[in-house]
Amino acid sequence: PPQAPLDRLGRPLHDLRLSVIEACNFRCGYCMPADRVPDDYGFDQAGRLSFDEIETLVRGFARLGMHKLRLTGGEPLLRKGLPALVERLAKVPGITDLAMTTNASLLARHAQALRDAGLQRLTISLDALDPALFRSLSGGRGEIDDVLAGIAAAERAGFPAIKFNCVVQRGVNDHEVERMAAHFRGSGHVLRFIEYMDVGTCNGWDRARVVPSRELHARIDARWPLRALDANYRGEVAERHAFIDGAGEIGFISSVTAPFCGDCQRARVSADGSLYTCLFSGSGQPMRSWIGEGEAAFSARLADLWSRRADRYSELRGSVRAPRKHVEMFLVGG
Ligand code: GTP
Ligand code: 5AD
Ligand code: SF4
Ligand code: SF4
Repeated sequence: PPQAPLDRLGRPLHDLRLSVIEACNFRCGYCMPADRVPDDYGFDQAGRLSFDEIETLVRGFARLGMHKLRLTGGEPLLRKGLPALVERLAKVPGITDLAMTTNASLLARHAQALRDAGLQRLTISLDALDPALFRSLSGGRGEIDDVLAGIAAAERAGFPAIKFNCVVQRGVNDHEVERMAAHFRGSGHVLRFIEYMDVGTCNGWDRARVVPSRELHARIDARWPLRALDANYRGEVAERHAFIDGAGEIGFISSVTAPFCGDCQRARVSADGSLYTCLFSGSGQPMRSWIGEGEAAFSARLADLWSRRADRYSELRGSVRAPRKHVEMFLVGG
C-alpha cells in the first residue's frame, strides 16, 4: 500500500467525515437558515455520489490510513437506502470506527436497520429539550418528542453510549444548559457543549453569542463537581470531564477559545464528492473523476493533495491571513 501521507504541518489523515446528502428536514439558524436556504434551493440529487462511488472513495481513503469514518449530511437519514451503504462501508478493511451524526428526528424508524447493517456509534445534534425552543431552533420543523423516540429506539437497537452535540448560543439556548446536563446525567450517554462557530456564510455569526467553554464548565462544576479526564485518542476535539458523583461524563468543544488545529487529522467530503481539508475551506477539490480512475489511482491523487495541506483556520481566526469565504456547514456536516 502507498505511504500514509503527512500534511505540511505533520498531521496524518486518520478521520473522514463523509456527507451522504446535502438536504435537511431542519433549518437550524446557524447552519441553513430558511430565508437563505429555501426548500427549492436546488438540492442536486443527480450530483450525489452513488453507493459504488462512495465505496471506492472510502477504500481509497482507508489505503492511506484513514480508520475513523463518520457519515454526515445535511441529514443523512434522508438518503434513501442508507443501511445498504452502511453495510458495504462496515466491510472496508481498516475501518475501525463507523459512526453517524444525525438530528435523530427520523431515527426511530431507522435505528435497528442501521445497527444491523454495522453502524457502530451515533452522535445526535440536540440544542434544547424545551419543546417550543427546540421547534424554533430547528426552524419550526422539528419536534423534540421525535428525537426522544429516536434515542429510545437507538438504545433498544443496542447502540453504545450516544454523544450529544449542543451548540450553545448566548441569549438563545444558554439557559437550557443545566437542564440538559441534568437530563443526561446518569443516562450512560455523553453530552458535549460546543462553542458557536463562524462556519459557512449565512449564519450571521456574532462573537457576542459565543459562550466560552470555561464559563459553561464553571456553571456545571458549581452544581455537580467535575474532574478532567484524559482524551480517548490524540486529536479528540472534546475536552472530557467526569461527574465526581459517578453520574457519567460530559464534554466541552472549544474551537473558538481553544483551537485544536495542531492535531487535526480530519478530511471532509461533500455528497457530490468534493474534498474539503478544513471545515472553513473556501472551496473543495472535486474528486468524482478521480474515483472513476479506480481505488489505487484515487489514493495516489489524494495522498498528493493531503501532503500539500496547511489549513489551520481556527488558529488564524480574526487575523488578516484567515480565509474569508467558508464552505456551508450543511455541505460538509460539521
Ligand atoms: P468522536 O470523537 O469520533 O466521537 O467524534 P467527535 O467528538 O469529533 O464528534 P463530532 O464529529 O460530532 O464533532 C463534534 C463537533 O465538533 C462538530 O460538530 C463540530 O462542531 C466540532 N468539530 C469537529 N471537528 C472539528 C474541526 O476539525 N474543526 C472545528 N473547528 N470544529 C470541529
Ligand atoms: N457552530 C458550532 N457547531 C455547529 N454545528 C453546526 N453548525 C455549527 C456552528 N455554527 C454542529 C452541530 C451539529 C454538527 C453537525 O455540527 O452541533 O451537531
Ligand atoms: Fe440540519 Fe444539522 Fe444543519 Fe440543523 S445543523 S440544519 S439538523 S444539517
Ligand atoms: Fe481542522 Fe480546520 Fe477545524 Fe483547524 S479549523 S481543527 S484545521 S477543520
